[in-house]
Amino acid sequence: MNDLTAVVEQARAAFELAHTPADLENSKAIFLGKSGRITELMKGLASLSIEEKKLQGAAINHAKQAIEAALNARRQALAERELQAQLQAEALDVTLPGRQRGAGGLHPVSLTLERIEAIFGSMGFEVAQGPEIESDWFNFTALNTPEDHPARSMHDTFYVEGGSDQAPNLLRTHTSPMQIRHAVQHVKKHRLAHGSPNDGKLYSGDMPEIRVIAPGRTYRVDSDATHSPMFHQCEGLWVGEAISFKDLKYVFTDFCRTFFENPELVLRFRPSFFPFTEPSAEIDIQFPSGPLAGRWLEVAGSGQVHPNVIRNMGLDPERYIGFAFGMGPDRLTMLRYGVNDLRLFFDGDIRFLSQFR
Ligand code: DAH
Repeated sequence: MNDLTAVVEQARAAFELAHTPADLENSKAIFLGKSGRITELMKGLASLSIEEKKLQGAAINHAKQAIEAALNARRQALAERELQAQLQAEALDVTLPGRQRGAGGLHPVSLTLERIEAIFGSMGFEVAQGPEIESDWFNFTALNTPEDHPARSMHDTFYVEGGSDQAPNLLRTHTSPMQIRHAVQHVKKHRLAHGSPNDGKLYSGDMPEIRVIAPGRTYRVDSDATHSPMFHQCEGLWVGEAISFKDLKYVFTDFCRTFFENPELVLRFRPSFFPFTEPSAEIDIQFPSGPLAGRWLEVAGSGQVHPNVIRNMGLDPERYIGFAFGMGPDRLTMLRYGVNDLRLFFDGDIRFLSQFR
């Protein structure tokens, strides 16, 4: 009997020492295998009397069951341990917040440009786009600003060496060159339609009015809280047979009041000088209430298009006349949202930009 108890104890101890299923199967063979300890004990029964066989056989069976129970318990423990190890290795923390792709949004200046286009679009203005790398001709000369004109010094820009009047060699300092580019195309199209392609003379035939805005990037050597070397402008041009300063005042006032959603907004047309307009005016606005109330804020340059500019469009200034303006969408964005440093728009800081979504 004592022998059997010891065998069972030895089996339990051996199973405890097995740390892998393979170890455990080896240990099992020692006790329950074909020539294992229990099998050997069974074989020994043959030499016993019937009475002893019965007693000893039952005892051996008992011990065998105990060993099998210990084996199964150990098998389960090892399987459980293996499962835990696997779970740990493949851990999946379902409480971690998911990685989201944030929703994008338009840049505040783009929102302003869209708004400008929508408002002028509702007044029948087309939208034109032109090159940012310009020639002397379109940026200055065609706009009645000859080489030695003092107005050029207000426009220190980024020049590329070489270039001729017609070849692009500078970053445009304003969107005004689009007045010429757009008008020339417009005139060309309608001359063709009226069978007078190009007789070298200024056009004084029939033609639909030119009504266009040209938003885009512009460049100057300038940098502080209210100036950036790259900034935006939006040009406006309306040329027809009887388009006067009165129309400019009406259109621009309507635009500003719609843009700022404020019908009480006050506008002032302050006499000024631009080579491409005569007379010229600076346009200031004033909010009747709010944090900016009582201050005149400059938003655009404007004027009656100079006859020389009308000529450079290919039109006869005796028949065609109109107004033009150039405004700063960056400035409008600052005023609309109460931003006091222009550079914030171009630093690319997502914490600032995402506030305008
Ligand atoms: N181009 C001018 C500037 O950059 C703004 C301007 C003034 C545009 C008068 C115009 C205009 O079309 O008529 O300062």
